Amino acid sequence: MTLTGAQAVGAAVDRIEAKEKITGTARYAFEHTPDHGTAYTMPVQSVIARGEVTDVDVEAALALPGVIAVIWYGNAPRLGATDDRELALFQSNRVAYRGQIVAAVVAETIEAAREAAGRVRVTYSQEPHDVVLRADDPKMYKPPKVAPNYPTDTESGDPDTALREAAVSVDLTYTTPAQHNNPMEPHATVAVWENGGLTLYDSNQGASVVRDVLAKLFELAPDQVHVISPHVGGGFGSKLAPHPPIVLAVIAAKVTRRAVKAAATRQQMFSLVGYRTPIIQRVRLGAGRDGRLTAIIHDAFEQTSTLMEFAEQTTTPTRMMYAAPNRRTTHRLTALDVPTPTFMRAPGECPGMFALESAMDELAIACGMDPVELRVRNEPELDPERGVPFSSRNLVACLREGAARFGWAERDPAPGVRRNGRWLVGTGVASSTYPTVRRPSQASARADTDGRFTVRVAAADIGTGARTALTQIAADALRVPLDRVRVEVGDSAFPTAPIAGGSMGTASWGTAVVRACESLLEEMDRRGGTLPLETRADTAEEIASQPPLSRHAFGAQFAEVRVDMDTGEVRVPRLLGVFAVGRVINPKTARSQFIGGMTMGVGMALMEESVMDVEFGDYLNHDFAQYHVAACADVPHIEAYWVDEEDTRINPMGSKGIGEIGIVGTAAAVANAVHHATGIRVRDLPIRIDRLL
Ligand code: MOS
Repeated sequence: MTLTGAQAVGAAVDRIEAKEKITGTARYAFEHTPDHGTAYTMPVQSVIARGEVTDVDVEAALALPGVIAVIWYGNAPRLGATDDRELALFQSNRVAYRGQIVAAVVAETIEAAREAAGRVRVTYSQEPHDVVLRADDPKMYKPPKVAPNYPTDTESGDPDTALREAAVSVDLTYTTPAQHNNPMEPHATVAVWENGGLTLYDSNQGASVVRDVLAKLFELAPDQVHVISPHVGGGFGSKLAPHPPIVLAVIAAKVTRRAVKAAATRQQMFSLVGYRTPIIQRVRLGAGRDGRLTAIIHDAFEQTSTLMEFAEQTTTPTRMMYAAPNRRTTHRLTALDVPTPTFMRAPGECPGMFALESAMDELAIACGMDPVELRVRNEPELDPERGVPFSSRNLVACLREGAARFGWAERDPAPGVRRNGRWLVGTGVASSTYPTVRRPSQASARADTDGRFTVRVAAADIGTGARTALTQIAADALRVPLDRVRVEVGDSAFPTAPIAGGSMGTASWGTAVVRACESLLEEMDRRGGTLPLETRADTAEEIASQPPLSRHAFGAQFAEVRVDMDTGEVRVPRLLGVFAVGRVINPKTARSQFIGGMTMGVGMALMEESVMDVEFGDYLNHDFAQYHVAACADVPHIEAYWVDEEDTRINPMGSKGIGEIGIVGTAAAVANAVHHATGIRVRDLPIRIDRLL
């Protein structure tokens, strides 16, 4: 059954919790203070990239007033099993990367903890480190799969021969740097051991996942761990799974028998919570003179740590974007002495599409074709690798509507010829895509005695407006006005739910909410008016029995840039995106997701770069003074639109995920526009001044 005759879905509803947020009464993790007071913990981080801790001298730290304990390998409690060795804090004296937690102080105040952390003397036995990603690294290997669960390589036809015989071909290498997730709210946890269990006020993208991972690590039953996360200030993927700061809080609370607060400092965010791997990509495209692709080969080289394998799914969008009879995609990985990379907004699709969409622009020029037309010409009938139909695919509609709105028709393709005073001016286009995925979720719906309904799901609203969207979905499923529905999220005691990630949160939780509401209405019909009445839903079976279709959202992004060729300064005066994302549940929050993603894409194109200090073996820019993210002033004119798209084969709402597609394609659109402006092709992000002069 699908939501028909919807009233609330589709309306530009303000965020339910807007007033709490703007009045400062919405409480975030670190703002929770248990009644019996708290202590604070501060980590001591390794200053070597590889080797062993041989001694920890705690005397000077313990001598400071207010210091309660210093924890390290020599005195820490032993933990249970974990697949993620980043979380095995103090379980070994090995150092796997610079910045790794090797000790921690617990103190009465955060100031005392920080001061004491600086006085812990750690002695190391240092070993040579390897921290530089190189495509020809002999340690490169083929991982068994890429995240979250895709085949590592794919091949069909004979791409090498087709490429050799192609009338037009390009063979290009692109690089993207390491980038660090920087949500507004750094990772924070308040850990309380009580009644034989563990209560965590925590900032995360999924309370159920945090509960399960922490329960295993501390050898508790899942219901002995209670994760409370009503408000979360962003994550961008770094809060999808637990990272060392939460484990530190729990260990510190266990050792001191106190409630303990841990919050990552902005500097620690650059060592302890993951990042987007740097990637080297080689893209080879072969085409006829008419621009029809005959061969696509896309190879990615990435890094992981020695602690855990994380293989980003960089070339997966290339598997379904364009038609071509001969194709190959590969991923290779090397384990370096670095922190473990993780998901960062549109992991895979975002860097992968930078390379593919830059290469499509280069191919368009080689074919003497308009880049919009080149993309339209290579539109596939079916998913080109899986051979199955798309549930809906409106890339062409996005390209056409974007071109019309942007004024693309008047574009003169010649590069480096338009001046406006000191500025060279150019425009560029790129496609976007993102998978439309659901994961099994549970939800409950309750009819209360006051005529209202309470819907619960352990979803995470990380600032996206998820709580609001779910309220709209529940109101329509219950056929009541919005103000009769209360949706509660962000608590592991609520029905188990998947993460706010992979742009699948609303679709996953929303399906379960619809099913719980439907069964509540049925129960109420059957049983009459005995209230309160609660029903539950679990969507595991529904999702397992989905027909095999290719489900993806699409988009097209258009950028105008100007480049000062005396200073190398690049500005993006205009950015326009058109997206095909099924039904838009809330136009107001949806627009914020799109323009937020596009803004982050401008940062990726022009600014974001974690720079490796090869000698010390660490990313050297650890703050916003040296690691720049795009701000509102960097996108003075940004437009996001969507085309009508009805897709009944994805979920009962007909909605596709929108959290990530906004960042996909932006960097390529900007880089393509920079080429159009200047005639200089920048294949290495970010497009720094020195890469243009
Ligand atoms: Mo997103 S990187 O799946 O939070």
